[in-house]
Amino acid sequence: MATAPSIPDLLSAEFAQNPYPVYAAMREHVPLLWHEAMQSYVVSRYEDVERVFKDKESVFTTDNYSWQLEPVHGKTILQLSGREHAVRRALVAPAFRGSDLQQKFLPVIERNSRELIDAFRGRGSADLVADYATRFPVNVIADMLGLDKADHARFHGWYTTVIAFLGNLAGDPDVAAAGERTRVEFAEYMIPIIQGRREALGDDLLSSLCAAEVDGVRMSDEDIKAFCSLLLAAGGETTDKAIASIFANLLRHPDQLAAVRKDRSLVERAFAETLRYTPPVHMIMRQTAAEVELGGGTVPAGATVTCLIGAANRDGDRYADPDRFDIFREDLATTRAFSAAADHLAFALGRHFCVGALLAKAEVETGVNQLLDAMPDMRLADGFHPDEQGVFTRGPQALPVVFTPIG
Ligand code: HEM
Repeated sequence: MATAPSIPDLLSAEFAQNPYPVYAAMREHVPLLWHEAMQSYVVSRYEDVERVFKDKESVFTTDNYSWQLEPVHGKTILQLSGREHAVRRALVAPAFRGSDLQQKFLPVIERNSRELIDAFRGRGSADLVADYATRFPVNVIADMLGLDKADHARFHGWYTTVIAFLGNLAGDPDVAAAGERTRVEFAEYMIPIIQGRREALGDDLLSSLCAAEVDGVRMSDEDIKAFCSLLLAAGGETTDKAIASIFANLLRHPDQLAAVRKDRSLVERAFAETLRYTPPVHMIMRQTAAEVELGGGTVPAGATVTCLIGAANRDGDRYADPDRFDIFREDLATTRAFSAAADHLAFALGRHFCVGALLAKAEVETGVNQLLDAMPDMRLADGFHPDEQGVFTRGPQALPVVFTPIG
C-alpha cells in the first residue's frame, strides 16, 4: 500500500483549517491510508465508506465504541449488533418518528425555538451559533426527556466533553480524564431522576423509556442513563452544527437563500445539501471482524477503520461538481435524504443509521423557518467570514448576523 508524504496529516493544523483539499488528495492517491498515530486505516471514497456502513459482508462491527464511547456513556445501542441491537433500537426508535414526533414533540420543538428567538428578535443582531444553534437542540432533548432546562449549561458542558472524548484522535490525556469525570457526574445527576420517574410516570420521553418493553426486554436504570447521555451527545452537537452550517451555506450563497426564503419547501433541499456538503460528523469508525479487501488494499482482522464522511460526500465519482453548494443539484434525492436509503452519508447507513434523523429534520426545518420569519433581511455582520472548525465534528464557531427588527 502506498503512503503519500505530500498529503497533510489528519492531525495537522493545515488539515483542521481546510480538510477538503486533503480529502481530494486521499481519494485520488491513497484511498486506503494507514495512520500510525491514530492506529487506524482510513477510507475516503464514497463507494468504500458506503460499503463499510452498509456492511453487507458482516465484517465491519461497531466494537470500536467499547473504547471510543463506553468509558463516558456506558454501553448503548451504537455498540450492539444483531438481534440485541434490533430489540434495543426498537425500544427507543418510536419516539423519534411518526405520531410521537409529530404530535408530542413538534410543539416542544416549536416552543423551544421561539423562546430562543424571542430573546434577540428585537435586537437587530445575533450570533446564530451562540444565541441559537448551541442551545436549541439540547433544550429540545432536555424538554423531551422532561429534564430541567435550567441545567442547560451542565448539559452543554457534558455533551461537548463526550464529543471531545469520541474525537480524541491524538489521545490527549486531559480530554480522556474530562470524559471519565463526565460519566460520574452524569450518573449522579441522572440515576436519581430515573428512579423518581419510575415511581411517577409522566408523558415525557424518559417515562416512555422507563416503561418501554420489546419481546420482554426492558431498559435498566443504567441502560436509560447511557441512552440519555448518547442522546445529548448524538442529538446535541450534531444538530447544533447542522443549523449553523445550513445558515453559513445559505448566507454565503445569497441567491439560494433568497430562493429558500421565497419557497419554504426548499428548506428540505437546503438541509439535504448541507448534510452532503458540510456534514456535522466528518468521521465515524468501525472495527473489522475478519481480514477484508478495502480501498485497493488489505485490512487485517481486528483493525480500526476510519470512514471519512466529509471526503466521501464530496467524491466526484458520485456527485457532479462536488465542491459546489447547490440546493438544486439533481444527484441528491431529497425524498430519501432522511431515511436509511439516503445517498449522502452524513447519517451513516445500514443498521446504525441515525435514529434521530427525522427529529433533526423537524428541528432544522422549524428553526430555519422561524429564523427566516423573524429576520426578513438577515445578513452576515460586516466583514465576517464564517470559518468551519473541528476535525471529528465540524461547523462554524460563530455566525454573527444583523437584521432590521420587525415592528
Ligand atoms: C443533523 C443531525 C445529526 C447527524 C448528522 C447525525 C449523525 C449520526 C451518525 C453519523 C450516526 C451513525 C453512527 C455510527 O454508525 O457509528 C448516528 C447515529 C445515531 N444518532 Fe444521529 N445524527 C444527528 C441527529 C441526531 C438526533 C437529533 C438524535 C436524537 C436525539 C440522534 C441520535 C442518534 C442515535 C441514538 C444513534 C445510534 C443509532 C444506532 O446505533 O442504531 N442523532 N447519527
